[in-house]
Amino acid sequence: FAPKWFSGHAVLVTAGPTYEPLDPVRVLTNLSSGKMGYALAQAFAQAGAAVTLVSGPVSLPTPLGVTRVDVTTAEQMRAAVLERVSGHRIFASVAAVADYRPARVSPQKIKKGAERLTLELVRNPDILAEVAALPEPPWCIGFAAESENLDEYAERKRREKGLQLVVGNLVQEAMGRDENTVVLYDENGRIPLPTADKAQVAWGIVRHVARRLGLIDTA
Ligand code: PMT
Repeated sequence: FAPKWFSGHAVLVTAGPTYEPLDPVRVLTNLSSGKMGYALAQAFAQAGAAVTLVSGPVSLPTPLGVTRVDVTTAEQMRAAVLERVSGHRIFASVAAVADYRPARVSPQKIKKGAERLTLELVRNPDILAEVAALPEPPWCIGFAAESENLDEYAERKRREKGLQLVVGNLVQEAMGRDENTVVLYDENGRIPLPTADKAQVAWGIVRHVARRLGLIDTA
């Protein structure tokens, strides 16, 4: 039995890594497993929300009751999000979107040759910043994956992107793992959540958002 705080609300979640192709058989990517984003999508759905999950390439089953849209690259993720975001109350950007992609994609497999090979990379669009800057943005939850200075960098991302909430985690404690240790940053300050499996952490985030949106009846 789960409290249906989000009944009647639509939530859009991104999860997993993106693959940025170099040639037909090689990609640039990162070690995100999708577990945190899938757990958050599942928790929002259990809390009554209509959840759409835009997912990078992962090997996880679709959470029960969630509509899943599969994408590969950051540009595909951006298009899938911008196409759907209107009408969503909440956007939770859990995906580890590649910040850069190869400037050129070779149509053929790159052959072994010179001793050194230099890759030119170009910036990918920042999907979350774009959503937060829409004329009628949803309530935006960003994640900050850092390897140091979590408080400083997470708080900076919240202010610079104009987000309602940032969930901060250390990459070494979060990426690919079943458990996570997160800190929530909003306009009221920082709230550390206890280390727990990602399903429990997701419920901690959902409860915090429900409180912030006044959806929990405290009477
Ligand atoms: O997938 P798991 O193995 O369970 O690992 C979980 C996680 C570590 C991936 C997750 O908890 C997490 O922290 N996700 C965000 C990872 C990330 O890319 O953080 P960032 O600090 O680089 O980006 C900040 C925010 O901007 C994120 O909400 C990200 O989704 C968003 N972003 C970043 C770059 C970009 N081009 N577009 C974006 O929307």
